[in-house]
Formats: sequence, C-alpha cells, structure tokens
Amino acid sequence: MISPHGGRLVNRVVDEKERERLTALAPSLPKLTLNAREVSDLDMIACGAMSPLSGFMGSEDYKSVVDLKRLAKGLPWTIPVVLATKIGTSHEIYLPGQDIALYDTDDNFLAILHLEEKFKADKDNEAAHVLRTNDDVHPGVQYLKSIGDHYLGGEVSVVNRVKFGKFNNYRLDPKETRFLFKHKGWEKITAFQTRNPIHRAHEYIQKCALETVDALLLHPLMGETKSDDIPADVRLECYESILENYFPSTRTALSVFPAAMRYAGPREAVFHAILRKNYGCTHFIVGRDHAGFGKYYGTYDAHYIFNEFDREEIDITPMFFDHAFFCKKCGNMASSKTCSHTSDDHIFISGTKAREMFAAGDVPPAEFTRPEVAEVLIKHYTSQNTAEKAAAK
Ligand code: ADX
Repeated sequence: MISPHGGRLVNRVVDEKERERLTALAPSLPKLTLNAREVSDLDMIACGAMSPLSGFMGSEDYKSVVDLKRLAKGLPWTIPVVLATKIGTSHEIYLPGQDIALYDTDDNFLAILHLEEKFKADKDNEAAHVLRTNDDVHPGVQYLKSIGDHYLGGEVSVVNRVKFGKFNNYRLDPKETRFLFKHKGWEKITAFQTRNPIHRAHEYIQKCALETVDALLLHPLMGETKSDDIPADVRLECYESILENYFPSTRTALSVFPAAMRYAGPREAVFHAILRKNYGCTHFIVGRDHAGFGKYYGTYDAHYIFNEFDREEIDITPMFFDHAFFCKKCGNMASSKTCSHTSDDHIFISGTKAREMFAAGDVPPAEFTRPEVAEVLIKHYTSQNTAEKAAAK
C-alpha cells in the first residue's frame, strides 16, 4: 500500500474523554467561526487527508508553500491551508499560546485550535503565486478579499466531525478507502477528481486509465464550488447513474472528497494528487485544464507542473490525458494523440451551450452526455427555472 505523504497518516480526532473535556472548555475560550472552505480543510486535517498537516499552517510553511511549492521542511505542497481571522473582528482577541474554539456557521462546535502563531497574510503575493493572478474576476482572488488579513497557525484537536448530510453514505476517510482497497485486493487504484457531472470525455479518460490499473476511485469534490457550478447533490445523482449503467461495479468505487475548490489550476492538480495518495490511491488522472478557471492557465500547465518535482517525492503517479472529444469520422472518443481529423469532425458543446440545452429540456447528443446523466440535469435545470420564475413573481 502506498505511504501517506510524509510517511504517516495523521489523525487529529480526539478520544471520548478528551471530547468531553474540550466540549466543557469551549464556551470559555475565544471563538472563531469558520467559513465553508476552512470547515472542509479542518475536516481533511482531522482524518489525515491532509497528512502530514496536523493543523493550519504557520508563517514558515505558508511562505514556503506560496513561494517554493514546498512545506518549510521541503516536502512538496502547493496550496496554502490557512485559517483567517474574520473581517469586522479584531485579530487582537487571538493571542498565541491560547486555545481557540472553532465553530461552523450554524454554531456547531467543531474543534480547538492550539494557536501557535498569528501572522499577516500576504494576499497579493499569495494570489500572484498560487492563482497566478490578482484579477478580481478569479474566484480565488474574490475569496482572498472576503477573509481577514491575519492567519492563525497551530495544531487542531477535532472534537466533532463535520456532518455530511445526504452525502454521508459516500463518506470514506483515508483509513477507510485504504481498508476498502486492501479488502478488494486492488493494488493499483487511480483517482478521478471532478466538480462536474460526468460527460463522455470524462468517461473516456477514466476508462482509458482503467485499462491499465486495477480500479477507479470516482472521488468528486463536494466542498464549496462557485455558485454557477452544478450543486453537489445533483452531481452525485449523475455519478450514481453513470456508474450503475456504464462501469463494472467490481472495479469502481464512489466516495466524496470534502475539499473546497480553489480554481488554482496546476497547483491544485498537485494538491489534489497528494491528497488522493493519502486516501491510498497509486495513480491520479489529470486531463486538460485541471481545476482551471477562465483563461488563467495553459491547457496543459497542470501536466507540466509535475516536472518540477522528483517522481519519488510526489510518489502517486499522474496519468495525463489530452483534450478528449468525440470524432464523427473515427466514430469514437479520441484526442489529438489518436485522431487525425479536423475540429469540424469533432463534436464540441461548450458548458454554456450544454446548460442552455438542459434548461430547455433538450437532450444533447449521446456522444457528448449519456442520456441517463442528461435526464438528471434536465430535471435539475427545469426545477431551477420553475423556482426562479416563481421567485420573480
Ligand atoms: S476540475 O476542476 O475538477 O478539474 P472537471 O470536473 O471538469 O473540473 O474535470 C475533471 C477532470 O477531467 C480533470 O482532470 C480535467 O482535466 C479532466 N477533463 C475535463 N474535461 C476534459 C476533456 N474534454 N478532455 C480531457 N480531460 C478533461
């Protein structure tokens, strides 16, 4: 079984006795309410998905990750995992050495932060390096503007795990996916990250990958995404339907990935890969413009970034795929690596066009989306339209 990043699977969930003690202590401590991304990060730290992180980053790790794509001790890590103070709340109330009680926005007590360090965020530098832009249009830049100016670093003791609601059936922590893979006898497992319903290009690259490994972990991101991305529960219905109808159940598993999207393109691809290694996957699929947004990243930048690291230090094997499409002349899915025809022969439907079709109740060609998936999406868009019309009245 592949080793976790840094060699050891972290567990920051406290035992029952400590849980009682910290629950009683929490009301007397300074309080911080986490936003959706921070709640996701906390939960992934808790269960070891973020190994070797045992808390939110201090200034040394933060600076090193932003500038060098590595933790201060040298291990590859490309995305800052930080906890920000809130705009409108003075950072003065948080003092290093203190314990801070962490809550979600519904006021559920989640964890204690053992505050080691408070430092000023360098948001311009962070955006320029991590997102490669300071442009307000980028959701990651918007996020940075929405949080406070100071970061709080320190280990966490997690008392209550985040509730997954309707996704609970598909919740598997790294130790559980690792158990599952062992139990199934799968040695080579490729993970597929997605924040979209599965379309034919996704299916094609998943199946190409499946030809050379033992199993596919369909691992859709279920944390916060941009408001115009398809809601997670609708996507889950699409995943269930495509797996049931088009994949061998003996070689696939579906589980949710609690992370929030950063839209950091290449840096997020490496981050996604490292976290999937912690879940026990040996391979990770990276297609075109992985975790991209707009025109901020080159189509294959998320492939090239892996060259900046030694193979052994990342350890999980990236499986790179070029832009895939259906070619009418070939009569099958292909990419420019396997098809000699021109784009006139390729079926291309933009995301915007597809949304318009679903909203109008039109089923896109089966070469673009499986009809079972189209059905779920049409149901979603038509109920959304009805709700919007009712609200406008
Ligand atoms: S992402 O933000 O999670 O990357 P998405 O769910 O669209 O977005 O993509 C999931 C994975 O499929 C990513 O690795 C992405 O690069 C890949 N991908 C998406 N569309 C295509 C395509 N047409 N051809 C090849 N790879 C693709």
